[in-house]
Amino acid sequence: MADLRIAVIGAGIIGRTHIETLGRVEGMALSAIADPDPAAKALADARGVPFFAEAADLIAARVADAVVVAAPNDAHLPLGLELLAAGLPVLMEKPVTASLAEGAELVAAVERTGVPVLVGHHRRHNPIIKAAKAAIEAGEIGELVTATVMSVLTKPAPYFAAWRVVAGQGGPLLINTTHEIDLLRHFFGPVAQVTAVTSNAQRDLPVEDTAAAILSFERGGLATITQTDAAAGPWAWDVTAGENLARFPAHDTIAHAYAGTKAALSLPDLSLWRHPGPPDWTVEMRRTALPHTPGDAYVAQLAHFGAVARGEAEPLNSAADGLGTMTVVEAIRRSAAEARQVSVAELAP
Ligand SMILES: NC(=O)c1ccc[n+]([C@@H]2O[C@H](COP(=O)([O-])OP(=O)(O)OC[C@H]3O[C@@H](n4cnc5c(N)ncnc54)[C@H](O)[C@@H]3O)[C@@H](O)[C@H]2O)c1
Repeated sequence: MADLRIAVIGAGIIGRTHIETLGRVEGMALSAIADPDPAAKALADARGVPFFAEAADLIAARVADAVVVAAPNDAHLPLGLELLAAGLPVLMEKPVTASLAEGAELVAAVERTGVPVLVGHHRRHNPIIKAAKAAIEAGEIGELVTATVMSVLTKPAPYFAAWRVVAGQGGPLLINTTHEIDLLRHFFGPVAQVTAVTSNAQRDLPVEDTAAAILSFERGGLATITQTDAAAGPWAWDVTAGENLARFPAHDTIAHAYAGTKAALSLPDLSLWRHPGPPDWTVEMRRTALPHTPGDAYVAQLAHFGAVARGEAEPLNSAADGLGTMTVVEAIRRSAAEARQVSVAELAP
């Protein structure tokens, strides 16, 4: 079978990761790059693929069977609508769109055209997350009671340029917390209520730099998320899981702690903590590691995208899933702005 031709729209930080990763995925090949920044042309030339300054010209040239959109958040909806109208399956970087209303429009376009969108919450494709999900579903932890999720890291000053400092476009809620919410929804199911506080006291930008949120889930269980991109800390998935060693270190500590009625699980180390008998805080727990075979989440995500584009699989993370995650982000923002608990149901588009 001929390689699936994959174009990448947006050749910035994550677009370049996808471009590099495509070279390691069987049955798929980079076929074109589109980016308004002329600097991206050198990358296309180096890879021997056509370059387009305008995504519309790339679509018109019919050089792709499916497309990765790795452009800034405000470009996700317009690009997604154009690509779906042209019948091209999309791997849309997260967040699915910049707002709830835009997300609803994209979901409607998927339904109208029947063309699939896979949202780039790549962690779901990581064998660590697959092992955790399998253990939770097999009942090894019992009923999930709490999750403590930390996303504590520092981004250097040059990162805060252009779209990343625009309210409604940047900020760690959209850039980082979306991944955490996606995982919590993956493990616990839909979120019911949110209470949150946000702050921009460290960077004094129009976007938040720190957030603390409490989530309750429709099926039971409570989670807390501590998010900052302005404090030194090793407790974040990005800097512990070793997913992108070209960009980030992999500190030997944890970022997530899940506790259930039978056992506890930390991530990314996959430590399973159990009492030898019935749970009892006076008895020392035993720690084992859940088995898994390490693998590259970005490779697995692109391989899955290939299957989605060929019509062999449903998206593991659809546009509707992405919208569900965005709804929780909006609930966090609203809770912080209005200093009240927000029901996710009241925001449903
Ligand atoms: N899944 C992940 O691990 C991950 C990591 C980082 C970023 N992201 C997401 O990927 C997207 C891009 O983030 P980034 O950090 O790579 O940004 P970036 O600013 O580094 O790169 C964006 C690129 O898109 C180009 N661009 C701007 N407007 C465009 C348009 N209309 N059409 C085509 N290209 C356009 C820019 O010139 C730039 O080269 C964001 O949505 C971000 O949230 C995901």
